[in-house]
Amino acid sequence: MLTLQKLFENVKSKIKNSYKIDEIDNIRIKYLGKKGIFSNCIKNLKNSSFEEKKKFFIVFNEIKKKIINQINKKKIELNKIILDQRIEKEKIDVSLPGRCRENGIIHPINHSINYIKNFFSQLGFESINGFEIEDEYHNFDALNIPKDHPARNNNDTFWFDEHRLLRTQTSSMQIRIMKKEKPPIRFIFPGKVYRNDYDSTHTPMFHQVEGLIVEKNINFSNLKWIIYNFLHDFFDKNISIRFRPSYFPFTTPSAEVDIITNVGQSLEVLGCGMVHPSVLKNVNIDSNFYSACAFGIGIERITMLRYGISDLRSFFENDIRFIKQFKHI
Ligand code: DAH
Repeated sequence: MLTLQKLFENVKSKIKNSYKIDEIDNIRIKYLGKKGIFSNCIKNLKNSSFEEKKKFFIVFNEIKKKIINQINKKKIELNKIILDQRIEKEKIDVSLPGRCRENGIIHPINHSINYIKNFFSQLGFESINGFEIEDEYHNFDALNIPKDHPARNNNDTFWFDEHRLLRTQTSSMQIRIMKKEKPPIRFIFPGKVYRNDYDSTHTPMFHQVEGLIVEKNINFSNLKWIIYNFLHDFFDKNISIRFRPSYFPFTTPSAEVDIITNVGQSLEVLGCGMVHPSVLKNVNIDSNFYSACAFGIGIERITMLRYGISDLRSFFENDIRFIKQFKHI
């Protein structure tokens, strides 16, 4: 009896000090298996009396039951530890935001260009971009710009050589298209232009859209109507528009158009006028027969006004935070 009790204490402490399922299984086999220590105890009973055997088995079964209980309990405990460790190891942080692919955003300048193209296509204008590398003839000479005009200066214009340059205005396209097409002509020319300027309202590259109509009876009122309608459509609010007499070598009469903001600030957004007879002559269009009007809109200017952008340079700094603001335009 005493040995049984001793054995039990022994097994108990072994179970307690086991940390692996294998170890527990080995204890079970060693003590309770067919050829285990407990079975051996029974063999020793061979010569005992019935009463002794009875007493023995009462205690024996009790202890066996306790051991099985302890083994099962320990196994549950160990399995829980194993599971906890696995959960900890394979943990997925579901609160982490997923990796998503971001959609690109149309740059506000491109958005304005698309808007302008769409507006003018409804009035029957075709659109072409033209060349950014121009020659002196199309950019200046044919547009009636005198040889000594300051705009031709190295300080303003990026020259490649004596004759080739980065176009300083989309007006050069007026010449190219009038030489190529027969009237009636209705075109817009959106695109990049280049000037040697850099501050909060100027960048060396910016965008203009030129418009040109050559028809039999086109006049300044037609031009004004188009400009008014375009600006009122583009700024879908009640803006004030001011036509201010101005001078451009390639138009006469000429005007500049300002937009007066609700705080009374005025900003020049375009130049326009009736194409100068000398320019028409340069492209062999008879000004007694045809008249032509033209306009040149600063795309950055109107885009800044429309979205309240104060520094023109922010369009081209590639700051993703700036661009992202235009997700829903
Ligand atoms: N090309 C002029 C500029 O860059 C803008 C301009 C003025 C265009 C009058 C025109 C026009 O077509 O008629 O400042």
